[in-house]
Amino acid sequence: MTRTDLSRRGVLGVLSGAGIAATAPKSWAAAAADWTIGVSNAPIEGFADSAMTRLHGRMPAHLSGQLYRNGPAWFRYGDEVTGHWFDGDGMVQRYDLTADGVRHSGRFVNTVKRRAEQTAGRFLMPGFGTAAAAGAPVTAQDDANAANTSVLKVGDELWALWEAGSPYRLDLDTLETRGPQTFRNDLKGMAFLAHPKVEPSGRIWSAGFAGKRAWIWQLDSLGGLERGEMIELPVAGYTHDWAVTERHLIFPLQPWVTGDHGQSIAERMVWRPEQGLQILVVDKADFSQRRIYELPAAFYFHTGDAWEDSDSTLHFDVCLANTPQFAAQGGHNIVRGKIDRNYAGADLVLVSLFPDGRAVTRPTGVTAEFPQTDHRVQGLRRDKVVHVHGETPGHPGARALALFDWKTGKRKVHDFGAAAMVEEALFVPRPGGSDELDGWLVGTVLDLKARATQLHVFDARHIDDGPVASWQGQHATPLGFHGTFVSGR
Ligand SMILES: [Fe+2]
Repeated sequence: MTRTDLSRRGVLGVLSGAGIAATAPKSWAAAAADWTIGVSNAPIEGFADSAMTRLHGRMPAHLSGQLYRNGPAWFRYGDEVTGHWFDGDGMVQRYDLTADGVRHSGRFVNTVKRRAEQTAGRFLMPGFGTAAAAGAPVTAQDDANAANTSVLKVGDELWALWEAGSPYRLDLDTLETRGPQTFRNDLKGMAFLAHPKVEPSGRIWSAGFAGKRAWIWQLDSLGGLERGEMIELPVAGYTHDWAVTERHLIFPLQPWVTGDHGQSIAERMVWRPEQGLQILVVDKADFSQRRIYELPAAFYFHTGDAWEDSDSTLHFDVCLANTPQFAAQGGHNIVRGKIDRNYAGADLVLVSLFPDGRAVTRPTGVTAEFPQTDHRVQGLRRDKVVHVHGETPGHPGARALALFDWKTGKRKVHDFGAAAMVEEALFVPRPGGSDELDGWLVGTVLDLKARATQLHVFDARHIDDGPVASWQGQHATPLGFHGTFVSGR
């Protein structure tokens, strides 16, 4: 399969399977009908540790560690369905990679939300697209925390991240939940994005958004609070991901803002294209030093990474879509087994912010989501970005993994085929290597024909050669969002 066989619609289109159900080939219909295994409840007790079956290849020498992934894994109580994919209870899954193979396990994050709803046997708490039930026992911000979006290793803990509340602390080995992280008593429950940025020094940056204000977190490598400040924003705008360079914080503020009507956040949000995509750039050393750039209205979930030229021009890659339709409606539909139609998804774009105030985009026409880079150069000049890509008629989810090189404009693609729902792949450096993307990509794929989740290892710079080794698990696990790889433990 060559890259030209792949659709250009994009993963938000991909995740929604935009406009394609009616044209699904008959030979594919049976497998396509089963895509909802990716948004079905995981076992209440989680996934017990089990060995995955090797499909082909061998574990590369020097590759060992744990891939941790987080995602929503509980969507239904009887006939009652959660209001949005983003509101399912978080489950952290762990893939142990050793010379002997791969083992898999998974455990729900034991949140206040999960405990209350499991006890009640129904949904109670408000979420991104879920209205609070009458009498919902919400007394603090973290009572609604689903801890379902990403994970970050901090010291000897794993933090399960949401975006509107605290990180939830987990034991790295057992995945047992220790509780929400409180950085300071007066900051309990303060929002902490699921996309923290870790500098090469180990310093951690994050933010929390509330209307026209944002709280900036600056943490040391062990999670200790170094600095926290509230800043005023030029406009309110939904921000799920962002970017940092050596000297700056970059917040693209999309024109999706809270309105007055609706039962949930997603229902209340209003698209205001006249506001444009405003990009706030803040000096790390002095948060009062800032610039604002403006692009035409666009929606995004994910940035890749940013860097800064010697003349202070900033660059970051981002997956831009035309509308927030998937966030607003697609996530409601997908947990009901419905596929949205008639809108395109996200394309890979490089945004450049010049010292003279110009903001310029370089579109690629390449569908992309879950962008990943060589994190050893977080905030520094680099050329390559890895992302999921393409779609299959009849079911949501990407079908390919791809690499784009901004320097050459060339790309490489591996197509997993029509049965695949491809999840985020993470870069793992080769010990002793220093060239960009010298190492492996480790990622998971829900294979609808096998009805099982697979783990694939690629030579990161040669995606188009296909995986060097693959394993298949005992289960079809719910589709997740983001993860982290912990080497050599
Ligand atoms: Fe995300």
